[in-house]
Amino acid sequence: MTRHLISAADLSRDEAVLILDTAAELASVAGRPIKKLPTLRGLTVVNLFFEDSTRTRTSFEAAAKRLSADVINFSARGSSVAKGESLKDTALTLEAMGADAVVIRHSASGAAHRLAGWVTGSVVNAGDGTHEHPTQALLDAFTIRQRLGADGRAADQRGAGLDGVRVTIVGDVLHSRVARSNVLLLSTLGADVTLVAPPTLMPYAVESWPCKASYDFDAELRKSDAVMMLRVQQERMTAAYFPSIREYRRRYGLDAGRMALLPEHAIVMHPGPMNRGVEIAAEVADSPRSTIVAQVSNGVIVRMAVLYLLLGGAAAAA
Ligand code: NCD
Repeated sequence: MTRHLISAADLSRDEAVLILDTAAELASVAGRPIKKLPTLRGLTVVNLFFEDSTRTRTSFEAAAKRLSADVINFSARGSSVAKGESLKDTALTLEAMGADAVVIRHSASGAAHRLAGWVTGSVVNAGDGTHEHPTQALLDAFTIRQRLGADGRAADQRGAGLDGVRVTIVGDVLHSRVARSNVLLLSTLGADVTLVAPPTLMPYAVESWPCKASYDFDAELRKSDAVMMLRVQQERMTAAYFPSIREYRRRYGLDAGRMALLPEHAIVMHPGPMNRGVEIAAEVADSPRSTIVAQVSNGVIVRMAVLYLLLGGAAAAA
């Protein structure tokens, strides 16, 4: 395993499968009355969050605690960052307190990469600007494998990738670190990924990505095993990318009528937070095809696997 997890591209197919298999092992712990393992006892994990987050921060916290690590939660609000302290000085301060791993979320693309050059511990990218969010892609891959298996039909298969599984990622791809990490990871695992977005929200150099791009949502739905809806990220929009929310919903929203176009076995995913009634209708989000709640619980076990593999080896060697 690499020391850091900055990009989904850091992972070979074997490493990605190892993380998914380790998570599958750890899933049994999540079902026990006492959900704790002693693996990372004595190690410190710092959650360094410069951007708002509900599920990712609490998910990393739960993952580290279930492995018995000490967790320090840092949020920029209420810290010396509000007084103008730089990322580097903040990082060095935390390092001086003995962080073995730093989980970072920051609004600047490349922040996790910079941090990795300053600290001695492992760095895990929990979302840097519009760049990447590799653990989200891992939990999505885990969820797809759990629900569909490698060939898009069978049950959970340890050791397997996602060969031939057809995944359609829909919406605000331009601003989505979730989409970037998923395209890289899912293609590494053998899936066929297609992006669907309004032309204004499709990234410029998408031809160089390991996926297809389409503007025909309904046609893609008919051949999808999994459809992943993305949040319209209004906080990152600097221009008018579509005429109105109503127009967006009509062309790119997933409602019950569109969901009926999916093959019977297909699943509907969303990384959260959702804009119910915009990119996804409430009845779709709450339908049995939706894996949205499972994605959240899988997030904890996948992050346990990542922390275990990044830090557990080092702890065992010490
Ligand atoms: C995503 C994020 O923050 O990148 N959410 C998440 O981590 N679950 C997606 C989003 O904000 O839309």
